[in-house]
Amino acid sequence: MDHSITDMETTDQTAPIGLFDSGVGGLSVARHIQRELPAERLLYIADSAYAPYGTKTTAEVEERAVKLSQYLIQRRVKALVVACNTATAAAITRLRSLHSIPIIGMEPAVKPAVSLTRTGVIGVLATAATLNSAKFTRLQAEFGQGVKIITQACPGLVELVEKGDLDGTETRQLAAEYLGKLTSRGADTVVLGCTHYPFLLPLFRQLSGPHIRILDTGLPVAREVQRQLEARKLAASLDNVGNLEILSSGDLDVVRTITSRLWGSPLNVHPLELVDGMH
Ligand code: DGL
Repeated sequence: MDHSITDMETTDQTAPIGLFDSGVGGLSVARHIQRELPAERLLYIADSAYAPYGTKTTAEVEERAVKLSQYLIQRRVKALVVACNTATAAAITRLRSLHSIPIIGMEPAVKPAVSLTRTGVIGVLATAATLNSAKFTRLQAEFGQGVKIITQACPGLVELVEKGDLDGTETRQLAAEYLGKLTSRGADTVVLGCTHYPFLLPLFRQLSGPHIRILDTGLPVAREVQRQLEARKLAASLDNVGNLEILSSGDLDVVRTITSRLWGSPLNVHPLELVDGMH
């Protein structure tokens, strides 16, 4: 363990929960955490200058995840949510070896999908990096017995959500194409394995019709955050008023506009200033 980092770890209940994603996608997780845990302060990094993560190598995403987690530990977060399936697959084992605060990651909801499907075919939409990861291979081997799992990478969708385009022509075309590749092969349950995609849920629902179940992992993750905070006596007191602070490596005006729109209220976005040779 790197003690220069762990020495900074805090057990202060009033400390924020840190979250990061390649961009605005992780806000789909943050909004569930905020609803479930309204007393908590959230410190969110939208790493938009490095988006998308899904086309980068495991080593590149891992290196970035380590830098962002070190920064959040320096900002004294009491828990870390890796609000990104791609970064979780690439880096969560490493992050847990570096830090002792609770670290909660994302995982495509294959297990619940397997118990819900009636056709015996489930579909997973995720980034190429998540689908090619060793972690996803293990997940399929562990929970996918007896069902057929069809996977579909979705190039272009993350970039469109980053632009705030949730139902324009190109977004509709790509979403219809990717979803169609799953449903045309019999999938009745579709897993959203990337935190950007829940912002496209109304569109996916419109395109799929009522007979296809679409699963998002934001709520189960928020409940897991709650469970881990309570287990470690880290939960904020209920009379606390929570908040959301956003930092970004990207263009602040663009990120401010998009995050405010996705969050449904005006948000301030501050520059992410990594120190000690972090860039
Ligand atoms: N939101 C991310 C995920 O959950 C990353 C998408 C990307 O940057 O490619 O996988």
